[in-house]
Amino acid sequence: MAVRALWYANGTLSLIDQRRLPQTRRLLRLTRVAEVAQAIRTMAVRGAPAIGVAAAYGMVLAARERGRTPDAAARILGATRPTANDLFVGIEAVRRAWAEGEDPVAAADAYRERIVGECRAIGEAGAPLFAERPRVLTHCNAGALATVEWGTALAPLRVAHDRGVRIFVWVDETRPLLQGARLTAWELAQEGIPHAVIADNAAGHFMHTGEVDAVIVGADRIARNGDFANKIGTYEKAVLAHENGLPFYVAAPFSTFDAGCADGRGIPIEERAGREVTELGDRSLTPRASPARNPAFDVTPARYVTGFVTPVGVVRPSAVARLATGSGLGSFRTGRAATPRHRRR
Ligand code: MRU
Repeated sequence: MAVRALWYANGTLSLIDQRRLPQTRRLLRLTRVAEVAQAIRTMAVRGAPAIGVAAAYGMVLAARERGRTPDAAARILGATRPTANDLFVGIEAVRRAWAEGEDPVAAADAYRERIVGECRAIGEAGAPLFAERPRVLTHCNAGALATVEWGTALAPLRVAHDRGVRIFVWVDETRPLLQGARLTAWELAQEGIPHAVIADNAAGHFMHTGEVDAVIVGADRIARNGDFANKIGTYEKAVLAHENGLPFYVAAPFSTFDAGCADGRGIPIEERAGREVTELGDRSLTPRASPARNPAFDVTPARYVTGFVTPVGVVRPSAVARLATGSGLGSFRTGRAATPRHRRR
């Protein structure tokens, strides 16, 4: 693996500052829980599984601070971003260990290992899907940066590429924060996987002209009925894939499945500051008088999903409820409790 998003050693969480990529590869070194919360909120670290692991280590840092309690630390980290189920699963994995007098570092390490292992398994399970459909469109960044290592949506493409499949990735730029153009393209370039960045509104064109064989995306929260939230713009890509007769896959570890959420209506959608839409770097793009709306995620109905690529194989949306409530999820069933309401900053 060429990319690892974050790592912990001796009281310091180190992470690649994803806001600076691809121009600068800067590391942030965090030693306090408030710093981790700020890094998640400002998206220095982002992507559902990665923020879960970062939050797990944020709990470790909190346990080293005088006077912090497990519940108070969980509240600080849980108030950062509402949509990704993984955030709350990562927090809970360490909160419980800490509250029960176990070693928080061991709990966070185990959580990280579990996520990395599941992403690797997603790669193995999903790679065969693309042997005959190698031109694949993806949205946002669901690679190693978003998951610590391997990725979710990118993991099967990496594994297929390593096995000699002539993978070609269509990379949606992913306005407004350009996770596709900046981060997915960076990861693919690092590993020499052929790809092209396209404007978000070009995806339909390339599907219609027969240059896309399949679509794969990650997810931030998957409801029991298979409705799922992912980066804003995912819904329209799913509709376009359906319209063009293309398979549409969603790749996710167990921490993204929310057994407590019946369908997409229960998924909290983060709305971020309008200036992420109206500004690019230090440049204003719009008239000063024009407000903007900036939902960070949308919900795609299960009927548009061909299959969920999970660590235990590719499953149909109709099988998600069994997966989400069955033994596969084990202790990951607590993600919902700490979810805050929608917020706008
Ligand atoms: O706002 P972001 O960049 O955190 O959104 C990330 C996504 O939507 C990813 O597609 C999702 O977290 C899956 S990452 C494996």
